[in-house]
Amino acid sequence: MSSLLSVSDIKDDVKYILDLASKIKAGEMEEKPLEGKTLAMIFQKSSTRTRVSFDVGMYQLGGRAIFLSSNDLQMGRGEPISDTAKVLSRFVDGIMIRAIKHSDVEELAKHADVPVINGLTDLEHPCQALADMLTIKEHLGDWEGKKICFVGDGNNVSNSLLLIAPLLGMDMSLACPKGYEPNEDILKTAQEYADDNNTEITITDDIGLALQNVDAVFTDVWVSMGDEAEAKQREIDFAPFQVNSDLMSLANDGAIFMHCLPAIRGQEVTAEVIDGPQSVIYDEAENRMHAQKAVLYYYMKD
Ligand code: CP
Ligand code: NVA
Repeated sequence: MSSLLSVSDIKDDVKYILDLASKIKAGEMEEKPLEGKTLAMIFQKSSTRTRVSFDVGMYQLGGRAIFLSSNDLQMGRGEPISDTAKVLSRFVDGIMIRAIKHSDVEELAKHADVPVINGLTDLEHPCQALADMLTIKEHLGDWEGKKICFVGDGNNVSNSLLLIAPLLGMDMSLACPKGYEPNEDILKTAQEYADDNNTEITITDDIGLALQNVDAVFTDVWVSMGDEAEAKQREIDFAPFQVNSDLMSLANDGAIFMHCLPAIRGQEVTAEVIDGPQSVIYDEAENRMHAQKAVLYYYMKD
């Protein structure tokens, strides 16, 4: 059963899915393509956007979604992931999961007979990357030849961006403090995609270098869910990487600012930038639903 655990799982169909998302957003889609279908949504971590956009998205496609907090599931009391996968597969047509460990999602997908969609793990956030790319297309016109820069932690969000950018013909730079570089396997795969597509990936702690010729500046929280114990140290290490007006002025004129949200104003980004004219954060949040409707259609339509 094919699943969306990583951007790599859709590497040959990223453009197709994004094109579908644009059509769905424009209302060019048959009525209720997922009528009678149910999506189980397992959450081991908090969520606003992912939970609501998947729930409303399923409803708008004619199906329904069931919210399952891992605290309430038997899984939270130690029932094996494999049994959870096999049992849920008898009831529902797809499973979306936000998990603490990426390996748990791999285990779930291994034993499920229905598609599993990654709604964020410690390693990747592929649905966010798709929504981000839809937003870039809308604001910058195209992907090919553009350059994006992620300023901050080499985390789940930046990992998925590193994989998706070269697949769409974009260069990507990542400016992070030493010691916060992205996962090595992700970087290796991203570099392979970049080589195949003649694009460039740059990982550096030199903010000025990273921001050269950049059309979209991204950041994310310095302390992701699960990293709370490191909060104090991270606030010190990331302080020079705050996205403020001076930093934005190093990117191209007209560059857009993006953030997956939730954001902490005054920490990874100033209010002036995130609430200013270059920011497209609410379009980006809205696009979670349109991109995910395309994913749900792609994986769950007969
Ligand atoms: N961007 C994102 O995934 O938001 P939530 O944590 O609110 O789902
Ligand atoms: N990197 C953040 C993203 C939240 C949507 C986290 O994992 O907490």
